[in-house]
Amino acid sequence: MCGIVGYIGSRQASSICFAGLRRLEYRGYDSAGIAVIKDGELTVRKVIGNLNNMEDSLENKPLEGAIGIGHTRWATHGKPSVENSHPHLSCDGKIAVVHNGIIENYQELRKQLTEEGHAFKSQTDTETVAHLVEKYYNGDLREALIKAVKDLHGAFAIGCICSDSPSELLAVRRFSPLVVGIGETENYIASDMGAIRAETDKVYVIDDDEICKITSAGIEITDLDSNPLTREPYEIPWPADAAQKGGYKKFMLKEIHEQPDAIHACLAGRLSAADKPITFENIGLTEDDIKGFKKVIFTACGTAMHAGHVGRFVMDKVAKIPAESDLAAELQQRDPVVLENTLCIVVSQSGETADTLEALRAMKKKGAKVISVINVVDSSIARESDGVAYIQAGPEISVASTKAFTLQVVTIQLLALYFAEVRQSCDTAELTRLKAAILKTPDDIKKILDREDDIIEVAKKFYKMPNALYLARGINLPSAMEGSLKLKEISYIHAEAYSAGEMKHGPIALVCPEIFIVAVVCQGPTYDEMIGNIMEIKARSGPVIAISYDGDEKIPLTGADPDADPSDIAGGPNEMIYVPRTEEYVSPITIGVPLQLLAYHIADLRGEDIDQPRNLAKTVTVK
Ligand code: G6P
Repeated sequence: MCGIVGYIGSRQASSICFAGLRRLEYRGYDSAGIAVIKDGELTVRKVIGNLNNMEDSLENKPLEGAIGIGHTRWATHGKPSVENSHPHLSCDGKIAVVHNGIIENYQELRKQLTEEGHAFKSQTDTETVAHLVEKYYNGDLREALIKAVKDLHGAFAIGCICSDSPSELLAVRRFSPLVVGIGETENYIASDMGAIRAETDKVYVIDDDEICKITSAGIEITDLDSNPLTREPYEIPWPADAAQKGGYKKFMLKEIHEQPDAIHACLAGRLSAADKPITFENIGLTEDDIKGFKKVIFTACGTAMHAGHVGRFVMDKVAKIPAESDLAAELQQRDPVVLENTLCIVVSQSGETADTLEALRAMKKKGAKVISVINVVDSSIARESDGVAYIQAGPEISVASTKAFTLQVVTIQLLALYFAEVRQSCDTAELTRLKAAILKTPDDIKKILDREDDIIEVAKKFYKMPNALYLARGINLPSAMEGSLKLKEISYIHAEAYSAGEMKHGPIALVCPEIFIVAVVCQGPTYDEMIGNIMEIKARSGPVIAISYDGDEKIPLTGADPDADPSDIAGGPNEMIYVPRTEEYVSPITIGVPLQLLAYHIADLRGEDIDQPRNLAKTVTVK
């Protein structure tokens, strides 16, 4: 899971590749490399660590050349090291290759190439590609790359240059994302559009087993039998500065603050007023399909799964379709019986997560209709689904997902309400109330964001603690799971989420002054039971942060002394975080936001590298 970028034109390729790599850092950042060609000479620069090291290296010793390829790596085969960093070279050092994906048959190819006299320098699967191209190169780089990829099994997006063919940049893909950016007298390649959006707003989205020969003057796309293919350019809908931090300290904070606007964009064209029906375009389902569904299965990985868990509640309760939710890796293992009229809803920000893609394929094979809830347009999952509901979040750069989660929840809620309208499964007054509540969420979230300083004060009281427990019941259990995931991802505090109903079956043993407990207590059917849980925790000297609705009078803050030891405060929670009151089924949209801010500010106070948490990658394209 890596990012690739490439440039051909008349400017310095290393600067353009570096800027692209910066925007691809979320795909991995344990090492990076750039190769350029100047005056028939190919030069490579590789650094380990994040891109600041590459920046320093380029500043100290610029890399010159008007054609180049770059790579930011997240190690799969071989540890992070200079040798294992891309670009990888042929024996004669004339051919350079960058690759995202996995070459499954690399060991057998490596053995064969070694027997043929090729000398390998790294432990990577990618290096086989450089040697294969060298083996087949006979003056025509495209021909050589076609022959090479015909030998490959696995997933790849590859960029390739050769100092003997210095006026062409080659790119090819199978199962890994690739776009070609269209300029005037220069062109680009990248793993995703965001990497080159600052340079161009027009790209060709490349499909499996398509190869592109790119010069400064043009782009030729063919299949692997060299048949020319025509492609309409895709216009990137985001403004050029959408991938920049826009004045915020971190992308994560920027993305948290973008949520009200992002929700507006997501609702546009789908829900305009509480008394108007919801419309969905291109979700690949007829009204008869929707009326006929007997079961819905949500599947995803990570944060997206938490949105899917919310979906389970709303599909069941509002659309009245029995629903379940299962992690993509587990769903494949579980190999469930899929009866007729089953809908699988796949949730993914990137649309490229390997396990999610495989679960999709498995469910399709079993006869389920598959639709996906996706952010990245035209991603692999989007393309393999029967229909797509795009969440319209724009680029999400921070590894820890925030706005994509919120918009996944919004989109799933809209889908469930849309199904309810088609199936007439919910009374009109309730549907109107729920729609009105969804329409109000941008304003509700703005109010929460206005209270950020209060959340910072709460974070200051707890950020040094080593453990956290998140408790909730019902539809906000997924919110608690997501809140605890955010905290552990970016602050490295050990955090877990539990149904408060399970408190007495284990987690209560953990309660002590050293573990802070975040309790989601919004009014609804679980309210009194949650208050009971808080009292049990307080009786055992556990510090509690409660999230509840504005005007909650039953559990006000009872420990007003900021200098007091949190565990000494008897009775109610130590800290309250209030959010605007809303409908129970809509509440996960807003409840997520204070939990995101709490995690962010705790991590910030601990001085962590929030946008690049250790060991994590934004897009996990390997299993
Ligand atoms: C990684 C990311 C998470 C994300 C998960 C699923 O673990 O760090 O933020 O939720 O992958 O990714 P997807 O792109 O399928 O939503």
